[in-house]
Amino acid sequence: MKTPLLQYGDLPDMLVQQLEAEWGLINARTTPHDILAGDGSLITCLVTNGETCIDAPLMDRLPGLNHIAVFGVGYDQLDIAAACARNIAVSHTPGVLTDDVADMALGLMLACGRHIVGAQKFIEAGRWATARYPLTRGFSGARLGIIGMGRIGEAIAERASALKMTIGFFDPGARPPHRWQPHDTLTALASASDILMVCVPGGESTHKLVDKHVLTALGPDGLLINISRGSVVDETALIYALDNQLIAGAGLDVFADEPQVPPALYGRNNVVITPHMASATWQTRRAMSQLVVANIRAGHAGEPLVTPVAQSSRYLVQKMLRPG
Ligand code: DGY
Repeated sequence: MKTPLLQYGDLPDMLVQQLEAEWGLINARTTPHDILAGDGSLITCLVTNGETCIDAPLMDRLPGLNHIAVFGVGYDQLDIAAACARNIAVSHTPGVLTDDVADMALGLMLACGRHIVGAQKFIEAGRWATARYPLTRGFSGARLGIIGMGRIGEAIAERASALKMTIGFFDPGARPPHRWQPHDTLTALASASDILMVCVPGGESTHKLVDKHVLTALGPDGLLINISRGSVVDETALIYALDNQLIAGAGLDVFADEPQVPPALYGRNNVVITPHMASATWQTRRAMSQLVVANIRAGHAGEPLVTPVAQSSRYLVQKMLRPG
């Protein structure tokens, strides 16, 4: 009998089916009590997504746990320190979603600046026969400021340079020399940008990093685009900035309290909102699923994880129970 995996949080059907077939999967949502209140020590591997809270008390209810496999690149809802302290290895799915997320970032930027959604509503409202849609903004030669020059930030910069934009960034952790223009502070980057793109991971250190000072520095012609985590932007400050024309618009794929989206963001021609779908393509979700499976296989075989989360990479999973 193989050791079952515990599913905690939503996963795509294609992954669930594969995990069920290969190992057996217990869904914590449908059978939480007997597993978590009963014999949680059966579970050695927990599979989750990047948006579900995985905290120390949950880990304590699973004393046999030695691997948490995250379906997603972001893992800010997971208490990494608690996992490290318990020798629990953590894997995630970086790399395979970079291009789709970067494409979506550019899509939001263009849709927001060119009012693509508002212009469609204009046609659908039958207004084209009697009016012209207002002029929108161009992007060639515009200044893109990227917060967080990791894989996704780089991929966005590459695409934006093909649009003839100039690229600046703020990332104290980025290793110089870098081909794009670094800025020492976030407000300096915002002041020097027409479009500010949020690409840093979520978590305590980036919580509400984009606040009223940053938005004010971005200025009345500036656009804010966020494909990272909603927690990075102070949503109240953002709505205030939109209401008072302190910035020109926003393109948002992520929100502070998903799936809740502040209704104050609805119905604005200068705001484009999408339901956290930047990596949600068939191709990428397949690749992410395969990477989760590869990590779980490696863990069960006692081999190093394929894509361990950096902070927990020193914890190889040699001590894992092999499936029977
Ligand atoms: C990620 O991989 O972190 C995406 O945001 C989907 O959760």
